[in-house]
Amino acid sequence: MTDRYAVVGNPVAHSLSPQIHAAFARQTGADLEYTRLLAPLDGFAACISAFHRQGGRGVNVTLPFKLEAWRLATRRSERAEQAQAANTLRFDGDEIFADNTDGAGLTRDIEANCGFAIAGKRLLLLGAGGAARGVLLPLIERRPTALIIANRTFDKAQSLALHFGRWGDCSARRYEDLTGDTFDLVINATAAGVAGELPPLPADIFAPDALAYDMMYGEKSQSFIKLAVAHGAAHAVDGLGMLVEQAAESFFVWRGVRPQTSPVIAQLRGQS
Ligand code: ATR
Repeated sequence: MTDRYAVVGNPVAHSLSPQIHAAFARQTGADLEYTRLLAPLDGFAACISAFHRQGGRGVNVTLPFKLEAWRLATRRSERAEQAQAANTLRFDGDEIFADNTDGAGLTRDIEANCGFAIAGKRLLLLGAGGAARGVLLPLIERRPTALIIANRTFDKAQSLALHFGRWGDCSARRYEDLTGDTFDLVINATAAGVAGELPPLPADIFAPDALAYDMMYGEKSQSFIKLAVAHGAAHAVDGLGMLVEQAAESFFVWRGVRPQTSPVIAQLRGQS
């Protein structure tokens, strides 16, 4: 019998997840169908419940429902628990298991695909919203020598640093107080790129051979990537690899099989 999965969001029409999971299914010989589900903004729980009742095996969850997905779960992984957000639900009988594969997708893309070891490096994370929260625990677990969170609204950076400081060294900084410091890895987890805006990053913060990473991909990542290159970052990449890696981790959570990601990333890059 064909196993059914879906990505649930609003909007969801432009999601690349069906294409990515179809490629994983072909590669691993899995008999599955993966569709897009547009949930009404006030109808996420009903949408999930209907898909579950109809025999769905699991879903990916995208904006703006990751917090609701986390709340809906009857059981959660530690990484979902700390992110307070879920991008992956698996239906085990009546149980709804929630996981968050965003951070694993990010660290895997940076380390395995970009060839950049996070351990021992100085890391600056821009933003303190859901996207930042979702990746903080896996980043801390890679043991950077410093992890600074900078955010326009300083309080939000402070409360994230306070929460995640339990797992490793992590502190908050205002953008203007970054001047004079340098970082090996700068990750943009802000939503600034959605409006073509930029976080107010001082010049000269990139250490020699630094990597600038935008968690968005395509057009929305371009303003940050251009800024990073202009400010002297040696490498600047978008989040397309993260998208494929988080999908592969979700596939593993559902099916216990880890698909190869490089051919899928190459295929998507070839289309853009
Ligand atoms: P997401 O779930 O995508 O993280 P969010 O929770 O709304 O969305 O958080 C958006 C993040 O982008 C926040 O850190 C926000 O900063 P504030 O907390 O100060 O609002 C950040 N952000 C959005 N637009 C920005 C801009 N133009 N410059 C700098 N930071 C920006």
